[in-house]
Amino acid sequence: MKFFIDTADLDDIREAASWGCLSGVTTNPSLYAKTGGKLADFEAHMVKICEIVGPDVPVSAESTAGTTEGMIEEGRHLASLAPNICVKLPICAESLAATRVLASEGIRVNMTLIFSVPQALLAARAGARYVSPFVGRFDDISESGLDFLSEIVEAINNYDFGWWADEGGVEIISASIRSPFQVTQAALMGADIATVPMAALKKCLEHPLTKRGLELFAADWAKVTAGE
Ligand code: G3P
Repeated sequence: MKFFIDTADLDDIREAASWGCLSGVTTNPSLYAKTGGKLADFEAHMVKICEIVGPDVPVSAESTAGTTEGMIEEGRHLASLAPNICVKLPICAESLAATRVLASEGIRVNMTLIFSVPQALLAARAGARYVSPFVGRFDDISESGLDFLSEIVEAINNYDFGWWADEGGVEIISASIRSPFQVTQAALMGADIATVPMAALKKCLEHPLTKRGLELFAADWAKVTAGE
């Protein structure tokens, strides 16, 4: 499974990229708003993210247009900013039509706000490069986000959608991920990607036994060096 970071915070992206195992970045209007960024700076901010992670790492930048024509126009423009920009569109009839056009022009779409299997199948059929089912937000309403994700993985893997064959076809981004447990379960069910906020990404690195083991190594090494 690949790890994406789910943030628009440049420092967090720099830090995660420095680990050497970051495969993508996802942003959305809420995450950009959290940085305090203004509309006028949005495009420069997306370009900065692309520069930090390098040209081979996809960066999702969301269109806020409300019509098919608007999404196509904004999608083309966003995609022209950097070779690794992926256009994020929320699932709806207009975005399906826009995805079809953008995909046929070789522009990658990440279809977001996926909360059902049919939505994911429609997005993949329209030509989305990525589909993003939201796990945590199902948990927020006392339903199992992981059960839902597992249904999406099974349904998507049942078919060849014919798009993006040279890149391995549509990929599932497990989104709205908040814990290492969710990352583990997503990996076990074969989700292609988990997009994880920095705090949860850091928790993925930690384990109490790793910490204890390091303390023991340090204590024992201190005994070795004490005799020097
Ligand atoms: O990638 C989607 C993600 O940003 C939503 O996460 O925690 O706001 O549900 P959350």
